[in-house]
Amino acid sequence: MSQLVHRPRGTKDLAGDEARQWEKLEAACYAVFTRFGYEPIRTPVMEPYALFSRSVGEVTDIVQKEMYRFTDRSGDEIALRPEGTAGVVRAYLQNNLSQERPVRKLYYCGPMFRAERPQAGRLRQFHQIGAEVFGSASPYTDAETMAVLAEVLRAAGITRFRFEINNLGSAEDRAGFGKVLQEFFKGKESSLCEVCQTRLGKNVFRVLDCKNPGCRELVATAPLVSDHVSDASKADFAKVQTLLTDLKLDWSHNPHIVRGLDYYTHTVFEVKHSGLGAQDALGAGGRYDGLVQSLGGPSTPAVGFAVGVERLFLAAAAEAAEALQAGHAPAEAPRSGVTVAALGDDALRGAFTLTQELRLSGIVCQMDVDGRSLKAQMRQADRSRSRYAVILGSAELAKGAASVKDLSASDASQAEVPLAELKSFFQKNLS
Ligand code: HAM
Repeated sequence: MSQLVHRPRGTKDLAGDEARQWEKLEAACYAVFTRFGYEPIRTPVMEPYALFSRSVGEVTDIVQKEMYRFTDRSGDEIALRPEGTAGVVRAYLQNNLSQERPVRKLYYCGPMFRAERPQAGRLRQFHQIGAEVFGSASPYTDAETMAVLAEVLRAAGITRFRFEINNLGSAEDRAGFGKVLQEFFKGKESSLCEVCQTRLGKNVFRVLDCKNPGCRELVATAPLVSDHVSDASKADFAKVQTLLTDLKLDWSHNPHIVRGLDYYTHTVFEVKHSGLGAQDALGAGGRYDGLVQSLGGPSTPAVGFAVGVERLFLAAAAEAAEALQAGHAPAEAPRSGVTVAALGDDALRGAFTLTQELRLSGIVCQMDVDGRSLKAQMRQADRSRSRYAVILGSAELAKGAASVKDLSASDASQAEVPLAELKSFFQKNLS
């Protein structure tokens, strides 16, 4: 036998129920976005490398250590997108999306790529559902962005999540705070890891989210960014907090959140779930008022978020397991659709045509074309959670009527329905 080919480390296949659950979740999230007035956008998974070095930042873990980057056959430097925001900003500019409306609210879903060490909730190909709003600097838009995020989580069946928010101030505030940080680290360089010692001169903010225990200890005593922002930014941040309380979202101010991507300004947030373990961020986002301009566009305020789809499923599963422990049994999957079971060769042709007719009239319908026994066909009808089974043998064909079994009834009651009336029978009884 030839050797099996395996998928790359840190990637996942989705099949069966799991694939179905993903489709359902995506559809539920798209419905949330539509309710909040967002429109879909799809951008390529590969983009010029420079897009990410100029937006996420040259001196960030994502760009320095985690990007899948290659030179293609025509010599172009390409990267597989590690996140969605930069590509959406590029597409917003390249397609002049600001022309039609001053405020543009966009959502997306798709695979992202980061060469991280795989562990529970951390993959190399993972999926984000995200949203970006362009053209509004209002704190109401920050609050609305978090409100739509909360609805996305609820659509995924997650209820126990909390927001941690912080204020990074404007680009000028950050430049000023950078100097404050430089001053703070002066004379303490030897307590920092080697990487952070180089970060000090290049991008001092990245020292703040270093995972090294020595660096963390020092950073815990460092000045806090939200204390070094302008009064206008403080006022907007206070407004965001009021609005989040009005919306009854569970939030707290975590002054240590700095985010690992360089483009953020003003409000930033992470949404955490206790059921996730070490990778406890379900999603994250914030304002990035300077990014559109720094990628060659006009000055445009913007804010957005992304959630990790794999983590949504982990959190939903953790909540379902807790509910089960508390004695709440999960609801059985509802029955739907029809299985047509054919008895013998003659009936197979009639059943085949009937199945197509039912499908064309919008009824979810399946049949076994391999001539298995009636018992096997009924077992399959049950497994696939069909609501009705239509049994068609030569006697039924001769009579012009089929036996219809309601598989949701406790006695699995059976009725005879004329073939010509089957369509309307199911249209009436399957909602
Ligand atoms: P991020 O914090 O890098 O932000 O990622 C957002 C979410 O993606 C994380 O909270 C997590 O749920 C998921 N995620 C990240 N890396 C992985 C991984 N290796 N495996 C599984 N899940 C992962 C961003 O990407 C920003 N673009 C968010 C944003 C949108 N900000 C403004 N607009």
